Amino acid sequence: MKKKLLVTDLPSSQYEGKRVFVRVDFNVPVKGGKITEDYRIRRTIPTIDYLTKCGAKVILASHMGRPKGRKIKDLSMAPVAARLNEVLGTQIHFPDAVVGDRVESASKKLENGEVMLLENLRYYNEETENDSDFSKKLALLADIYVNEAFGTSHRAHASTYGMTAYFDKKYAGFMVGNEMKFLNRLIKSPKNPYVVIVGGMKIKDKIGALKKIIEKADRVLVGGGVAYTFLEACGVSVGKCSVEKDMLPWARKALEDYRGKILLPVDHVMAEPAGGKKTLTVTGAEIYEDMTAYDIGPKTVEKFTSYIKGEGTVFWNGPMGFFEVDNFSNGTSAIARSFALAKWRGATTVLGGGDSVAALKKSGVDFSEVTHVSTGGGACFEFLGGSDLPGISILSDS
Ligand code: 3PG
Repeated sequence: MKKKLLVTDLPSSQYEGKRVFVRVDFNVPVKGGKITEDYRIRRTIPTIDYLTKCGAKVILASHMGRPKGRKIKDLSMAPVAARLNEVLGTQIHFPDAVVGDRVESASKKLENGEVMLLENLRYYNEETENDSDFSKKLALLADIYVNEAFGTSHRAHASTYGMTAYFDKKYAGFMVGNEMKFLNRLIKSPKNPYVVIVGGMKIKDKIGALKKIIEKADRVLVGGGVAYTFLEACGVSVGKCSVEKDMLPWARKALEDYRGKILLPVDHVMAEPAGGKKTLTVTGAEIYEDMTAYDIGPKTVEKFTSYIKGEGTVFWNGPMGFFEVDNFSNGTSAIARSFALAKWRGATTVLGGGDSVAALKKSGVDFSEVTHVSTGGGACFEFLGGSDLPGISILSDS
């Protein structure tokens, strides 16, 4: 992909008094109204600081979760506004809305160097539908467009794609610039062997990228919720684990086409459904009829870690189980530790995804023990799979 214009490619004096729309990805985990992991917020601070110092009026916009057009209170950006107040050491403006006269007039009233955060963009279906009227309304809020949302750049939505048509030049923020620099280099000259660790909940969310990345990788280690659809496709009983029935034909074919390349769990930590108290580690791949698997077992850890070596490239996307609960966090922690060791022994390691970042932290592995911690899960996966990201493609070439 061609090099893109960076925020610093516009002379700093031209930001003074201008309203700058910065699409950020503040889709962070929130529990009881409090943010539990704010890496994605911290990574955008250099861009926000730079713009405010240049005298810009900064308008931050993000989605949170998938409210599908409903105004779900738990998915409000309010906790992010509170966190930004702390991090920036100033009171930001939070108009509690996304578009319309009130927000437009608030954007015009901002003083130079002030920051405003919009409510959850996905409170409107028009955002994900890339609706042209909605795009136009968003564009009315600003004079300059910046993408600092690497994690959402694989989505062609109104705020990442549609609204950019109204701006002559479109710039990448510092973090997007860094992500592209690192990941582009990795794609151009990947070091082999290339080992991909895939976890998380759904194949459907990753199918496009997964198809491409399986071709490129030497080994694909599959854990987490994703593994049970693959196991069912092999004819293994998966008990009460959730299976994506519509993905079974594809999973069957992938296992046939890439025999030996895709590795699945050979044992599990199981419990009664909904994380019941009775936990059990089983030695075989079969899951009991009335149980759900919540973590990979010790034999799987041994098998997977034997492929996570100190050479080549290791890309990890998605936890190996329900790591948030201590009884089910061993598999993910063991993988995190061997992932860290792989870097110390010379491998290039890349971690992608909000859940993976939280899992790494819980495992006691420091970010400095990973070559690159990406702010994107799906976006990083898609890019490494070789897809163009619409939110990056539309940025102006440098
Ligand atoms: C992510 O967390 O991967 C991004 O914020 C994108 O979210 P989405 O998958 O709901 O579009």
